[in-house]
Amino acid sequence: MKHGKLPEKFQPSFGNFLILKVPGNRRNHYPKIILKQDMQDVLKNFNLTGYNTFGIEVFAKLFLTFRNTQELKEVLDEYKNENVLILGGGSNVLFSGNIDGLVLQNKIKGIEVIDENANDIYIRAWAGEVWQDLVDYCVGRNLGGIENLSLIPGNVGASPMQNIGAYGVEVKDVFYQLQALHVREGYIRTFSTDECRFGYRESVFKNQLRGQFVILNVTYRLSRYPRFNISYGMVENQLKLMGVQELSVRAVSEAVIAIRRSKLPDPKFLGNAGSFFKNPVIEKIEFERLKLSYPHMPHYPSGDKIKIPAAWLIEQCGFKGYRRGNVGCHEKQPLVIVNYGGATGKEVFDLSEEIIHKVYDNFGITLVREVNVI
Ligand code: FAD
Ligand code: EPU
Repeated sequence: MKHGKLPEKFQPSFGNFLILKVPGNRRNHYPKIILKQDMQDVLKNFNLTGYNTFGIEVFAKLFLTFRNTQELKEVLDEYKNENVLILGGGSNVLFSGNIDGLVLQNKIKGIEVIDENANDIYIRAWAGEVWQDLVDYCVGRNLGGIENLSLIPGNVGASPMQNIGAYGVEVKDVFYQLQALHVREGYIRTFSTDECRFGYRESVFKNQLRGQFVILNVTYRLSRYPRFNISYGMVENQLKLMGVQELSVRAVSEAVIAIRRSKLPDPKFLGNAGSFFKNPVIEKIEFERLKLSYPHMPHYPSGDKIKIPAAWLIEQCGFKGYRRGNVGCHEKQPLVIVNYGGATGKEVFDLSEEIIHKVYDNFGITLVREVNVI
């Protein structure tokens, strides 16, 4: 926030702090001294290339990093007429053009134990924590629940937004509650699991309440006596390859990390936002129809429906390793659209449209984007 000339009530700053004098009341005639952390400046025409893992160059009209709830409230109040975009690690967004509004990057940090019993431990993590730092915190203390979600990029704040998931576990499985601030009205509300309306890569924050709340912190229930989930994909196999004799939180986490490193591109070297589309879930009757033409089509039960891997559908349409200009589909995992360098959001979006049309023409299935197009 630009201070310009400081108001008189502010005294010279002590490092990162300003001393704010508040007049005493009748009983106490001495002024109270409150330490107020100095706020960052709002930056104008800010380059977001380093703030989205796709590495798309766009500019935000206004940009600010906030480190606590008070700073967030103040800036929302001051810029109440601007469109607001909350940004975490930028690993699930595609910027399609410049942002005509205020981009707020959440840097509220902290991980704390808030309750525990013989079996469970309740950990509250603030939204600006890096997700992997929370995983490391839990793995280091042998607390089970999120080891399968190791190495997912991004921050804690987005974890319930997307209901992040991998290797048979979703955040909703360990979620206890979260606190969020209403962008326009400034009140803080607690959301239970039911109120978050979690689904496959879905929550109320991505749908009905989109853009209305800033997630401040999330409380997860971790277990002292974890039941490991290693049945998904290659996890069990990887544990065998690693020679693991006895399962542990750390071993499962390391297995997941090894698998992920072997197939997913690292955004540091190749811009991407993970899976670009969701895996489609179709009716059994539709599946039976497709199976007649594609008897080897991979599929997984999903409730009373069937999930088809989008990667397979995309590969069948010839997009695996496909490149057009600066964009393409990854050579090991075609569900991941990549930026080979210098791509615009439009190029990525156009390729995603082409994929959607081809998959629909060939299979009659409509792929839905998982990445948030902004
Ligand atoms: P951002 O991209 O910054 O934001 C995503 C959305 O959430 C935006 O709409 C933003 O406005 C909103 N948002 C962010 N923070 C807040 C907040 N505090 N309050 C309100 N809204 C907020 N995802 C998976 O589920 N499973 C995976 O296995 C997986 N693998 C990936 C692998 C790679 C290589 C990459 C690049 C991505 C992968 N992802 C995966 C996607 C991504 O990492 C997750 O969706 C992650 O949770 C996004 O976090 P973020 O902080 O980067 O969110
Ligand atoms: N497949 C192919 N060709 C390929 C790769 C995969 O046909 O080149 C088929 C295979 O049948 C394979 C299946 O796709 O068995 C599933 O592939 P994979 O295990 O790699 O997982 P995914 O379904 O493509 C999902 C998530 C990932 C998550 C992994 C592991 C979605 C949209 N994606 O990918 O999440 O890490 O499972 O659990 O559900 C993300 O959300 O960004 C993300 C990376």
